[in-house]
This record gives sequence, structure tokens and C-alpha cells, in this order.
Amino acid sequence: MSDILVSRTIPIVSVEEAMVHFPIAHSILEKIQGKPRRYVQALNGVRLELMRGETLGVVGESGCGKSTLARAMVGLLQTSEGKIYFNGKDIATLHGKARRSFNRQVQMIFQDPYSSLNPRMTVGQMLTEALSVHNMCPKKDIPARIRQLMELVRLPADAIDKLPHEFSGGQRQRIGISRALAVEPEVLIADELVSALDVSVQAQVVNLLLDLQQKLNLTVLFVAHDLRLVRHISHRVAVMYLGEVVEVGDTETLFQTPLHPYTQALLRAAPSMDPTDRGKSVSLTGELPSPLSPPPGCRFHTRCPNVTDRCRIERPILASKPGGQRVACHLV
Ligand SMILES: Nc1ncnc2c1ncn2[C@@H]1O[C@H](COP(=O)(O)OP(=O)(O)OP(=O)(O)O)[C@@H](O)[C@H]1O
Ligand SMILES: [Mg+2]
Repeated sequence: MSDILVSRTIPIVSVEEAMVHFPIAHSILEKIQGKPRRYVQALNGVRLELMRGETLGVVGESGCGKSTLARAMVGLLQTSEGKIYFNGKDIATLHGKARRSFNRQVQMIFQDPYSSLNPRMTVGQMLTEALSVHNMCPKKDIPARIRQLMELVRLPADAIDKLPHEFSGGQRQRIGISRALAVEPEVLIADELVSALDVSVQAQVVNLLLDLQQKLNLTVLFVAHDLRLVRHISHRVAVMYLGEVVEVGDTETLFQTPLHPYTQALLRAAPSMDPTDRGKSVSLTGELPSPLSPPPGCRFHTRCPNVTDRCRIERPILASKPGGQRVACHLV
């Protein structure tokens, strides 16, 4: 146990002040009027550490930058400013062998298995390819390794000769997980892994991920809308708002005593697990501002019930609080 506790304190991926701004198409009128190009500020100085051996949940309203962060962490997107480190190395500087090693060690599992699995390849062919590309084992050992992977994700052995369309949604997600695990990664980035599945199937896939995380001591970034799932699976949770992390902390502390007014509102808006509590839930008031022109100061100030003059001007930084959480709010 102590090994695991110790290991969950060492960062494996560190995101430092990461910015990702997407240019948006310039209309002819805007060009004629000489207007400057506008940018969607998808990530705005995100600071976050993913600790070795932990599952870190990432939550926040649609459009707050969760997927952008996930894609930046696997190196699918470059940050315009800031850095992302994997085992202490800036991932933007990795080339050749080091890059290939990073690509193997940090695997993304996608929400939509249809788009990420080749429809013409059987599960066996797909896994053979993954194992061969990264030279994971001698050729003669590949069939045994594939059988082992099927067992690991609890698929029957006859799945090996089937094509993706022959499986249900939950089974396809297991295939996606087996392909990611084939290359023995250290980090799994799961963006809305189960959001497209029926609730009953969601639980099975999430419990599988939980088991695998413990068995293989994986580090997992779990992006999801469903706060109950996030609470069930995560050691720590990060809350994002308009391209920033506004609060991060141990799951139970964060769920029981959320400190940031946005976290408080987000948790109140979620359906309660206590049936006598239903109906008391309050949803967030006010519109989510556009990421094209986010508010100055604290980005949440336009919707915050406790807003002060300082919040309208000065941007709060993510600071440690006595409970262990880190919160970006002037009033906490
Ligand atoms: N390739 C892109 N080009 C332009 N804008 C983009 C691009 N990808 C994302 N965005 C914008 O960046 C912002 C953050 O998007 P992102 O997909 O990261 O949000 P999200 O938190 O994952 O949302 P959801 O919960 O709906 O999946 C959004 O305003 C989105 O429209
Ligand atoms: Mg997303």
C-alpha cells in the first residue's frame, strides 16, 4: 500500500501554463474591415499534474477545454504557450526514438470506437499490428499475448477473429482498451470513454478500467460529464471552467467540501444520489461566456454569486488551501 501511496505523489505528466488558442475562420467582411483574426481560447494557462498511479477525473461544462487538454497531453495538439512534461521531458522537444517511446507510453482511448477501430481488421489483426509496430514481443509469442489481452479486458477468446461491427458498444470499448494496453502504456487518457454507452454497460466498462488501473498500476486521466462516475473512479478530480483549472483536490474532499463557487454550483446542479435530496438541486445561473472573448479577471465572475470588484479585474491563481485542495478564487 505504501508503494502506491508514495507513487501517487510523483508527477508523470505535468502541464505548465498550457495555452491552446484555435484561430477561427476570418470572414470576407472581417478581412475588408481589417479586423484582427479571432481565437477560441480553449486552454488558458492550465496548470495540472497527473501523478503516477492515480486516476485523475476532469470535469466541467461542455466547451471548457477538457478534450483539448486531453489531446494536448497525448501530443495530438501543440500548445501555443506553456509546456507539457512527460517524466520530466518537454514533449514538444521529443523526436525519433524518444517520440515513439512517448507515443507508446501515453495512450488515448476514444469515446467513439467506430471511428477509432479499422472496420476491415479483425481484433486479432488489429492487436498483431499494435504489438508489431512497437516490437512488444517476439512474433511467435503474439497469439498468446493476444489471448492474454482478451482475458484482461474480459472478452471471449473467439472475439479475436471477429470484426468491430460484430460487437456491442461496450465490447467495442473493451477492444479499444485492449489495443491501448497491448503496447504496455504507463498512462491512459480516456476522454468520455463511456458517455455513448447505456448506463448499465457504462458501469461494467468503468469497473473494468478501475480493475485494470489497480492491477497494472496505470495512470489514468478520466474525462467525463457524469460526476457520479468520476467520483467512483477517481483518486483526485480537477474542475475546469473556460479553459482553466479552477479547483483540484482529493475526490472525497472535493465532493464533500467544494471550495470554488463554480465547483459548488456544478455539484449542486448534478442529480443527487440521495433520493430525498432530488428537486433541491439548483442549476448554474447565467450563460457560459464565449471562449472567443472570455471575461477579464476571474473568468467565473459573470456567474458568481459572491463576485467582488477585485474578481472583475484580477485573475486568481490556483493556490493551495488547508484541506489540500488547490483553488483559483480570491474569496476562498
Ligand atoms: N479544432 C478546433 N478548432 C476550433 N475550435 C475548437 C477546436 N477544438 C475545440 N475547439 C473549441 O475549443 C473549446 C474547448 O473545446 P473542447 O472540445 O476541449 O471542450 P470540452 O470541454 O471537451 O467539451 P465537451 O464537454 O462538449 O466535450 C470549445 O469552444 C470548442 O468549440
Ligand atoms: Mg470533450
